[in-house]
Amino acid sequence: MLEISDYSPALSDECVALERVCPQGERFRLSFRRPTFHARAATYERWGLVVGREGGRLVATCAYALRPAILHGETRTTAFGFDLRVHPDLRQRGIAGRMTRAVIERATPQGADLFYTQVVGDNRAMFGVCRSLRMTLAGGYRTLVWPVFRRRGARAAPETTPAQIHDAYVRAEGPFDFHPIPGPAPAGHVVSLTTGAAGCSLWSNEALLAEVVERVPPAYRAARLALAAPPLRWLPLPRVPAPGEALRSWFVYDLHAADGHAARALLEHVNDRALASGIGYCYVVVSGEPSWWPELRAAAPPLLSPIIPYSLLMTDLRGPLRVPARMCVDARDL
Ligand SMILES: CC(C)(COP(=O)(O)OP(=O)(O)OC[C@H]1O[C@@H](n2cnc3c(N)ncnc32)[C@H](O)[C@@H]1OP(=O)(O)O)[C@@H](O)C(=O)NCCC(=O)NCCS
Repeated sequence: MLEISDYSPALSDECVALERVCPQGERFRLSFRRPTFHARAATYERWGLVVGREGGRLVATCAYALRPAILHGETRTTAFGFDLRVHPDLRQRGIAGRMTRAVIERATPQGADLFYTQVVGDNRAMFGVCRSLRMTLAGGYRTLVWPVFRRRGARAAPETTPAQIHDAYVRAEGPFDFHPIPGPAPAGHVVSLTTGAAGCSLWSNEALLAEVVERVPPAYRAARLALAAPPLRWLPLPRVPAPGEALRSWFVYDLHAADGHAARALLEHVNDRALASGIGYCYVVVSGEPSWWPELRAAAPPLLSPIIPYSLLMTDLRGPLRVPARMCVDARDL
């Protein structure tokens, strides 16, 4: 019998131990390291977490954040669901579905009338959960993995505030049909940069949710061995992380640019900053088909820069969902 109850910080270690046996993804398998289990949820102003126990043992978690978002021009109170974990011994018995329903039951009396989550491209189990909950595939975004391994010699970009970058992003790339309203600078915000012709903000999840590599696809394993051996190891080439390695990465979000040249120049500057800070990868968040995308894609190091798709899944708790054509991505949801 699954018993669902509210989380308290005293359960953090048990939840972190559960997460350790629940890596995510199939081609690229990642687990997470975090200071406390609720550290990520606590980046939102309003949040909740539930845990599931069977026979006294903690076997499941699910978190939600309550936040305003604009859907088709109307401000709604949304519940964003995340940190869903079910112990591998107890999968495919409906526990994830029950945990998600428990979260929706808690969020609804607090005003939530829209529920959404984000799923990485190859997480079949999570797509199964969303299908069985009758959630609608409502678009998504992708990240371009930009390995940082050599200086690009780019011109510096002046610093600005994340709010200014976000406004410029919405003016340049918007309007968006689904737009979670960002709070103050998110925990983990590194810096916001503008060149006039392009701008972006950088965010790091290192202190909240560091990603640890569990497995990479066979082609990448082969590349890791080849790149680690002479003569390739003597050349300035990207490296492939080894299992057990924590990734040092930055997310590049709210990226906007007048054209491909401006986007590329800004990314090259971000690359040089990342290199100087010991960051190994930048994940460039791209929603839709901005005009600068083909040139930026072409400028990414040709080796080992995959594009990772993320899907937005949604349920309108008021009735049938009008699917948003284009979404704005909030750094805290990444
Ligand atoms: C994703 C996860 C939470 C699913 O937990 P679960 O308790 O096994 O899911 P449920 O039993 O509630 O399954 C719900 C539906 O998904 C389907 N499903 C679950 N796992 C599946 C899989 N591996 N492949 C295909 N379908 C799957 C089930 O068949 C069920 O469909 P049905 O209702 O039509 O029968 C679990 O696999 C997990 O913890 N994975 C690692 C962490 C993770 O990826 N979290 C999600 C982050 S977004």
